[in-house]
Amino acid sequence: MAISYLNGQWQAKEEATVSVLDRGFLFGDGVYEVIPVYAKKPFTLEKHLQRLGDSLNEIHLSNPLSMEAWTHLVIEGIERSGEHNAAVYIQITRGADTKRNFVYPETVNHTIFLMIDPAPILERVEIKPYNFVTMEDFRWQKGHIKSVSLIAAGIIKNEAIAQGADDAVLIREGKVTECSASNVFIVVDGVIVTPPKSKHLLHGITRDQVIAVATEAGLNVEEREISSAELTLASEIFITSSTHESWPVGSLNGQSVGNGEGGVIWQEVDRLFQELKARL
Ligand code: PDD
Repeated sequence: MAISYLNGQWQAKEEATVSVLDRGFLFGDGVYEVIPVYAKKPFTLEKHLQRLGDSLNEIHLSNPLSMEAWTHLVIEGIERSGEHNAAVYIQITRGADTKRNFVYPETVNHTIFLMIDPAPILERVEIKPYNFVTMEDFRWQKGHIKSVSLIAAGIIKNEAIAQGADDAVLIREGKVTECSASNVFIVVDGVIVTPPKSKHLLHGITRDQVIAVATEAGLNVEEREISSAELTLASEIFITSSTHESWPVGSLNGQSVGNGEGGVIWQEVDRLFQELKARL
């Protein structure tokens, strides 16, 4: 059952409301996290809480809770939801001020919001490769902050859908960055390649885990720039995110990637990731 927490109160998410003066509502002034839950256990929770802290730092907003208090809240939420495979969403905003004001308030009353939703996609029953298009990455220069200001991601996703695709691989100055809500990997000559961490992409936790398990298993992984030309030559493309784990891309701009199915390297990465899940 989906459930939410808002500033100390557990309730159905439809019932949770915030002030129209909340800076999250007026300015998109807030950050968030999405944490996968398997068999009632939050996966790589510490890394998500660490990144939440980093995002808060970047926007000069204090962390309203300690690591222990966050952990406790997330675990309580999972318990209350009764879900086995779920996604925990955390959002913190700079709260409500007395008027709309670009200047940060002197005293901040954070808005702390959590929701726990069932995540059937994490059961991985049917993995149908996605169809992607390429699109210019017109987002801002602070892509490493997990900001709730997601208007650009919404435009990209919906433009991709309007073109008959599922999402877009984004290109900035001729180089691949990531996708609207996931990181991207390609396979060239048997080597797994993903763009290096920078301010142009979110430092995905699934990305880190995939690199770690693949490297540990002896697969060749390179973190380096990928040109848009190289992207079109890839024998495999897959994406990673907390809500998708790793997921194959079957076509790019209407052209089949490999044979259009999840490739052998992706299959191996997926197998390694499932092993990691079982281990953790
Ligand atoms: N999105 N890049 C972007 C822009 C993202 O929004 C996400 C995650 C990722 C992958 O990060 P991670 O592996 O840590 O989930 C990369 C989440 C799932 C979302 O917005 O729903």
